[in-house]
Amino acid sequence: MLNAGGLVGLPTETVYGLAARADIDVAVASIFRAKGRPTGHPLILHISDIADLDRYAHNVPSSALTLAQQCWPGPLTLLLHKTSAVSFLVTGGRETVAIRIPANECARQIIDQCGHALAAPSANLFGHVSPTTAKHVHQDLGDKVDLIVDDGNCTIGVESTIVDFTTDQPQLLRPGGFPAEDLESIIDQPIIMPSGESRAPGMLNSHYAPKCTVVLVHTIAEAKRALSEYDDARILDHWDNCPLYAASLYTQMRQADADGMTAIIAVLPDKSGLGLAIRDRLNKASLP
Ligand code: TXA
Ligand code: MG
Repeated sequence: MLNAGGLVGLPTETVYGLAARADIDVAVASIFRAKGRPTGHPLILHISDIADLDRYAHNVPSSALTLAQQCWPGPLTLLLHKTSAVSFLVTGGRETVAIRIPANECARQIIDQCGHALAAPSANLFGHVSPTTAKHVHQDLGDKVDLIVDDGNCTIGVESTIVDFTTDQPQLLRPGGFPAEDLESIIDQPIIMPSGESRAPGMLNSHYAPKCTVVLVHTIAEAKRALSEYDDARILDHWDNCPLYAASLYTQMRQADADGMTAIIAVLPDKSGLGLAIRDRLNKASLP
């Protein structure tokens, strides 16, 4: 299906992707159409073998290579200078390309058998909560994809961490499934927070939002007080266990909407480890 230029819902360890062959322009264009995503928002290239990195990126700094060697396959995306093998359709006209090797075995086998990188954003409608099950993909895009590969629940549940290696110092463009402090200790170098306007278009505020109101609190006691102020509200579960919180976050948001909740109350975790990514998604979800 992919080699014929089709669109496939693909499992990864972070969230399900909406995949197409990155070298087939009409297929890549259909990703944007299916999601309703602006064409200026670039896509991540998914590869299955680190040996292919040179094919798509050049002048890779040694610290980026170290992360690729030690963290892939895994929830880490590296922003690098693109080669001519990557079309501007994928990068939204930029000279840079985002690349990762997903940890999901099934995804890697599919990429491997295609023999070319797959471009894949998260498989949700533009602006909606990301999908962590095949059913979520079907709900958002069922009539627009050619095939959905069902490999159960995504184990991590939040998108990959994106680090920009095209600037003087590495920058954290998106906190995600790979904790930034772990990356820093691998390369023994700080990864700085970007300042100014986001260099990763598509990470808009209210991007990960369910329909219901998302109320943020700092403690479970506060959450219980907030609960009494709403009809049909619930406190998000697993607030005291980051891996479980991340893995269930998008499912809980989607379920709250399906159940007609007016609000969900979310206890913000610490900024350490996976907590930073969870806080980022909750903050965005809480914006109107
Ligand atoms: O975990 C993930 O990364 C998932 C799975 C499917 O791999 N994918 C994902 O893709 O989250 P998407 O398209 O929903 O988010 C990718 C982000 C976007 O915010 C985009 O702007 C940024 O990566 N990005 C991609 N290429 C870029 C580039 N050349 N320059 C700046 N930002 C880029
Ligand atoms: Mg997305």
